[in-house]
Amino acid sequence: AVVGVPLPHESAALHVTGTALYTDDLVMRTRDVLHAFPVQSPHAHARVTALRVKPAYDVPGVVRVLTGDDVPGVNDAGVKHDEPLFPDEVMFNGHAVCWVLAETLEAARLGATAVEVEYEPLPSLVSVREAIAAGSFQGIGRHLERGDVTGALGEAAHVFSGEFEFAGQEHFYLETHAALALVDEYGQIFVQSSTQHPSETQEIVAHVLGLASHSVTVQCLRMGGGFGGKEMQPHGFAAIAALGATLTGRPVRLRLNRTQDMTMSGKRHGFHSAWTVGFSDDGRLVALDATITADGGWSLDLSEPVLARAMCHIDNAYEIPHVRVDGQIAKTNKTSQTAFRGFGGPQGMLVIEDILGRCAPLLGYDALDLRRRNFYQPGDSTPYGQPVRHADRLESCWSQVQSLGDVDQRVLEIAEFNAAHPYLKRGLAMTPVKFGISFNLTAFNQAGALVHVYKDGSVLINHGGTEMGQGLHTKMLQVAATTLGVPLERVRLAPTRTDKVPNTSATAASSGADLNGAAIKNACEQIRERLAQVAGGKLGISPHDVRFVDGVVRGLSGDGVGWNELVNLAYHQRVQLWAAGFYRTEGLHWDANAMRGEPFKYFAYGVAASEVEVDGFTGAYTLRRVDIVHDVGDSLSPLIDIGQIEGGFVQGAGWLTLEDLRWDSKTGRLSTQAASTYKLPSFSEMPEVFNVTLLEKAHEEGAVYGSKAVGEPPLMLAFSVREALRQAAAAFGPPGTSVDLPSPATPEAVYWAVERARGGT
Ligand code: MTE
Ligand code: MOS
Repeated sequence: AVVGVPLPHESAALHVTGTALYTDDLVMRTRDVLHAFPVQSPHAHARVTALRVKPAYDVPGVVRVLTGDDVPGVNDAGVKHDEPLFPDEVMFNGHAVCWVLAETLEAARLGATAVEVEYEPLPSLVSVREAIAAGSFQGIGRHLERGDVTGALGEAAHVFSGEFEFAGQEHFYLETHAALALVDEYGQIFVQSSTQHPSETQEIVAHVLGLASHSVTVQCLRMGGGFGGKEMQPHGFAAIAALGATLTGRPVRLRLNRTQDMTMSGKRHGFHSAWTVGFSDDGRLVALDATITADGGWSLDLSEPVLARAMCHIDNAYEIPHVRVDGQIAKTNKTSQTAFRGFGGPQGMLVIEDILGRCAPLLGYDALDLRRRNFYQPGDSTPYGQPVRHADRLESCWSQVQSLGDVDQRVLEIAEFNAAHPYLKRGLAMTPVKFGISFNLTAFNQAGALVHVYKDGSVLINHGGTEMGQGLHTKMLQVAATTLGVPLERVRLAPTRTDKVPNTSATAASSGADLNGAAIKNACEQIRERLAQVAGGKLGISPHDVRFVDGVVRGLSGDGVGWNELVNLAYHQRVQLWAAGFYRTEGLHWDANAMRGEPFKYFAYGVAASEVEVDGFTGAYTLRRVDIVHDVGDSLSPLIDIGQIEGGFVQGAGWLTLEDLRWDSKTGRLSTQAASTYKLPSFSEMPEVFNVTLLEKAHEEGAVYGSKAVGEPPLMLAFSVREALRQAAAAFGPPGTSVDLPSPATPEAVYWAVERARGGT
């Protein structure tokens, strides 16, 4: 079987030699391309009182300026219809007012500078605190409740309250937003887009152009990273390119430069939380009462489902009998915050991990012990009513990390080190992850595939998922080869297109391999069944006894027939050699209003131990060692999965400890607009020792080949880094110091935490 074999990414060689093609590379292969450049608002909030485009036409090379008057369909790029593509009222600093098309990018840029816009500034709200104070909210607030929180808090032995505001995160995919649109030889619209959600890009382009969906085809070759940032945000950019192509009759290319991408596109939601928690005398969580506010930015985008996932993950891995969570979405004059790896889950989980980290010393518990004693046990259910199946895997992962990471021994060594070093302190923390897999909205949990077997026995597969570097296509090739019993080289995968597989869901929620893998398997099984009939006839055996292995088709014993020969035979018998596959996840139900149900097919589990060293003079720190045990079920592709775990972990560590988005509070201007001011994780921040182990004997019944989703859950293993920094900072103070740590815990923030710990406050 090809499934489970550690293979490199199908495009690894192309990636590292620079020959993999991305959307914008196609410009080189397209003639007469026009380049698009935006005119961006310098105000956080303002009415556009005059827009004079004429001066732009005096710039040599400018061909067309696109404004709201040009839109034949609906002037909106949002699924919620709250995102005017050409706004009369700009809602954030950087908002595009109109777009200039020109023969060269430089001419388009000069044209954009020539456009004259007059604004009437309006009051703005930039921070989430300002928005809460002003009552500026959007979308539907949610309420999740189980048990008797007020009563339980009244009786709890220990009650603590706090507030915690934490930052969002810039996606910083290597490939910025890009689209290339043209009107094809039939007059149809063809858009190449760097999108995680080609079907929705197609729908929005069709709405803007006033066309039916069948007149628009969207293709996504591959993405240079998406991380959730290309789930909903690409639509408007694709629509601009498509509108330009329709009006000029020429291909239009839109690719944001880094600063445009950072100032125009949505990011991970920062949150504000206010909480009260109750513990029993033996350190058990008894009640949690929390209000969490997502900083949604100027429009809704995916804020509602992000909030729902945050609320569904506020328990992380811990059994909390009495829970009340109120969730709301602030409306602020910033970019429209959106999906980002974990989709709100990390934000919900950060709230409880922060609470445990802060409260452990106050309760007189070691943080390692406090976390472990609150784990879900088999038979427990989440606050929204889903049984926590395989809860014992939390304990398995935890104890394996403890032994593989030599944790007990190192805790002793760290205590010795800290006693001997007044200006350097080390800290070690272990944190668990429990993450629900499936889209909360049940309808999205479906997928399609198209599998062709050609007369020569070669196989072409197509599915609704997109490749963003996560290795989905590699896994899909493995699934097809395994199901058909042919060598991997016989299978090729064609780019994702809406005219091949329609009505697809976003490649998101880590469910790409689960959903599309099952659809491909379904299509391959249909073909295999038909071929088994043919083989049974040829070999004189029952079709039930026919096996497909390594390109040979045979019975339980005796002679076989080669795959190619069988395919050819089937063709001559007029047997259909291709199939459309479909899959929908069974057993899901979710009441979004009541916040109750079983929205997830299963949970993914993992545990990480991280050790850091903090310099007390500067707050600078190093990540010394990380040990991870993570549950991916029976891995479809172990090298891919280990890469996802490492990458997710590092991205999470970036969010929690380095990446610091700053907006100017007056102008709403994003002051961190480039890698020079926005610190990303790089090799020097990687742990010196980084051990990743896949949990063994983890077969997941009912998922494709027993595998589990891997894309997002490992990001949250990085809580261990933040908690280790808290441990190290506390070590500068007297025993039992509780450290209040901002997020991101940048060196500067850690320095001040150390100062507070030293001061004993
Ligand atoms: N890995 C890489 N290399 N690049 C990405 O953009 N996106 C992540 C994750 N891993 C991403 C990635 C996110 S946000 C999700 S939801 C999943 O991949 C999506 O792919 P999957 O469903 O196939 O796991
Ligand atoms: Mo991932 S945030 O679900 O694209």
